[in-house]
Amino acid sequence: MELALGTVQFGMAYGIAGSGAAVPAGEAAAILACAFEAGVRWLDTAAAYGDAEARLRSLMGRHAFKIVTKLRPAPADRHGDALAQWAQEELQRSRECLGDALRVLMFHRPEDLLSPDGPLLWEAAARFARDAHCALGVSCYEPATLEKLRLHYPIELAQLPGNALDQRLAQAQPRVAIHLRSAFLQGLLLMPLEQGARRLPAAAAALGRWHGWCRERGLAPLVAALGIAKGLPAVTHCVVGAETLAQFEAIARAWQDAPVLHAPELAVDDLAVIDPRHWKAVSA
Ligand SMILES: NC(=O)c1ccc[n+]([C@@H]2O[C@H](COP(=O)([O-])OP(=O)(O)OC[C@H]3O[C@@H](n4cnc5c(N)ncnc54)[C@H](OP(=O)(O)O)[C@@H]3O)[C@@H](O)[C@H]2O)c1
Repeated sequence: MELALGTVQFGMAYGIAGSGAAVPAGEAAAILACAFEAGVRWLDTAAAYGDAEARLRSLMGRHAFKIVTKLRPAPADRHGDALAQWAQEELQRSRECLGDALRVLMFHRPEDLLSPDGPLLWEAAARFARDAHCALGVSCYEPATLEKLRLHYPIELAQLPGNALDQRLAQAQPRVAIHLRSAFLQGLLLMPLEQGARRLPAAAAALGRWHGWCRERGLAPLVAALGIAKGLPAVTHCVVGAETLAQFEAIARAWQDAPVLHAPELAVDDLAVIDPRHWKAVSA
């Protein structure tokens, strides 16, 4: 399994713990240089991440990363040929931004593929991916959506969330290559317990068990979180986010130290805890 770097933080304010602003260009470039030195070769981005996709090549400088990008959610007022034209234009724009570094295209809202226009949208993206020598995949919020889509489309790889509290991946045993995200549950698993419980009260009990589990094993939450990511099935890349160079340096060190860990006892089913779309977060 490889460590990969996510870039939403470079293009917009993001995350329950976020600083409320995009990472400044100088810091983003320093994080990318450090990541490349640490052996990271894959970046995760999307057209919907503010201006991250447009600025990524200048931020990465001479470092030859390979990039995953994502097609925006399809506009509701486009159908048939107009929708295929829209997809073509969107993907062409991503290609112009990322050049030969672009290696994987994902649907950012895979539910678009379950609509009546789904097959047409898939075909338009598949045609583009073939011409651009890219793989085609989907970014989902739960394994069940991936299984549903695989009944209709030859999906090669997918991005899914997974961490100590969200272990649906372990139960699903997917049969495609997985790019794992949310290893830190947007930073919630790395916050001091009081701060995390204050931010997301629904997660207070689960976070208490998490920090107790780490303490009993003498593990720093950052090392434990990455160790649990290493223990999840079918994962080829662990996509992490960082807002500062210091955060990424700590991630790179912890990745080296993290043993493969399994903690089914920490798993939570409550979407109000594990799915950011259902969060009722309390601002700082
Ligand atoms: N639908 C999708 O396709 C989708 C959705 C979400 C994310 N993603 C991708 O996944 C990437 C990662 O995002 P994620 O949601 O999965 O986040 P994550 O990796 O679970 O957590 C990242 C957050 O953890 C905190 N953090 C990181 N290193 C730390 C350290 N050393 N010490 C303390 N806190 C630290 C930072 O938040 P603070 O500094 O704010 O604490 C950072 O923003 C994104 O950049 C994006 O590329 C994709």
